[in-house]
Amino acid sequence: MSRHSEIREMEKKYVYGTWRYENTWNPVIMESGEGCYVTDMDGKRYLDFSSQLMCSNLGHKNQAVIDAITEQANKLCYVAPGFGTVPAAMLGKKLEEITQEGLVKSFLTNGGSEANEAAIKIARMYTGKGKFISRYRSYHGATSGAIALTGDPRTQHAVGMGGVVRAPDCYCYRCPFGKEYPGCGITCVEIIDEIIRMEGPNSVAGVVIEPIVGSNGILVPVDEYVPRLREICDDHEILLIADEVMSGFGRTGKMFCMEHWDVTPDIMSMAKGITGAFLPVGATITSHAIADHFDQPGNLFSHGQTYAMHPMGCAAAIASIKEYEDKKIVENAAKMGRYMEKRLKELMESHKSIGEVRGKGLFWGVELVKDRETKEPFATRKEKFLPTIQKKMSAAAMEKGVYLVNIINHFIVAPPLIVTEKEIDEGIAVLDEVLAIADRETV
Ligand SMILES: Cc1ncc(COP(=O)(O)O)c(C=O)c1O
Repeated sequence: MSRHSEIREMEKKYVYGTWRYENTWNPVIMESGEGCYVTDMDGKRYLDFSSQLMCSNLGHKNQAVIDAITEQANKLCYVAPGFGTVPAAMLGKKLEEITQEGLVKSFLTNGGSEANEAAIKIARMYTGKGKFISRYRSYHGATSGAIALTGDPRTQHAVGMGGVVRAPDCYCYRCPFGKEYPGCGITCVEIIDEIIRMEGPNSVAGVVIEPIVGSNGILVPVDEYVPRLREICDDHEILLIADEVMSGFGRTGKMFCMEHWDVTPDIMSMAKGITGAFLPVGATITSHAIADHFDQPGNLFSHGQTYAMHPMGCAAAIASIKEYEDKKIVENAAKMGRYMEKRLKELMESHKSIGEVRGKGLFWGVELVKDRETKEPFATRKEKFLPTIQKKMSAAAMEKGVYLVNIINHFIVAPPLIVTEKEIDEGIAVLDEVLAIADRETV
């Protein structure tokens, strides 16, 4: 048995995989990474065309971040969150600077789910109200509150908190109302107004959205959607909470996705790209009004974790943000995003299995259909955990040296934000080859 197979068997025996049938998990064991590539135990290199889970925004093995982590480790790895540290103070200040005007004070945690748990709790403490509105095609994390907000099939396997009402999605390609933009009156956002009225504004703490829906299909809202949602929330005096865990840190060609519509949320959660995935960190930044509330005597900030404000994570985040700035990585994402869009749209011309490509920056979804006319999908929600044609295609891409995330009926094309045109061409060439598998199944 090769060393690679030995480790694979050991991992399968002793470690749970995530969101899968354990008996079918057959992981490739990765050993190293550099730039836009990762390398397995046999020395085979793969182009990372999805930034792992849309999080390795800075690519792999960034020396500046590694140095910052090492330096912090040599100074102080951990103290209780009751103490302050230089990295925590500096990261909080930096997040205030790079987020939109009006977002000021952060809770610092260890990942996206925890950032959303903090958002839920802060919103409830601040408003004194309990309910949230989220959407069906959404993922907000695996922990109790975050999985309750989540509307995708992963929520069916968990019992989360109560008090979540879900709204239909802004998904023009398959409009839940059977309408067509722009004559639709943006029903998908107006229905949220109606839901709030029906639920009672006095019971709703906030509306939670991924500004561009990530793992549920890279759904880009029409331009009116987010500004109108802000108005609706203001009318009813409820909070707008943006989950930028996946869409933040340059992914869409702006530092944060909400900037595309110049709309500031009351609370914004982030993770993934905050450290380029070099260490697990999340953050929940809040508005002036919320920060002021907790500054008042008697208003308890009733939340915490052992590893809140972890000095190592904070040091990694500060160094990562410096990399985004110094190397103009967000600008590169916008520029390479235009090239990616062109290349993906070319693919659409030669592959009838592509129903739609959509996205912004380096955040693209390729949705597959058996029939362009009827838009019949290859797979639906109930097949999420089953071996779909998309999974077969991703496996074929791996064989050819390209890692590509597939979810239900689409691929997520989201390489590290340092990607070059040449690397985009390399990934597109393999996508071009594996699309033939789906083309053969079209009508
Ligand atoms: C939009 C969004 N929110 C929250 C999460 C959960 O983050 P984590 O897996 O770091 O807990 C994810 C993870 O993919 C996500 O995409």
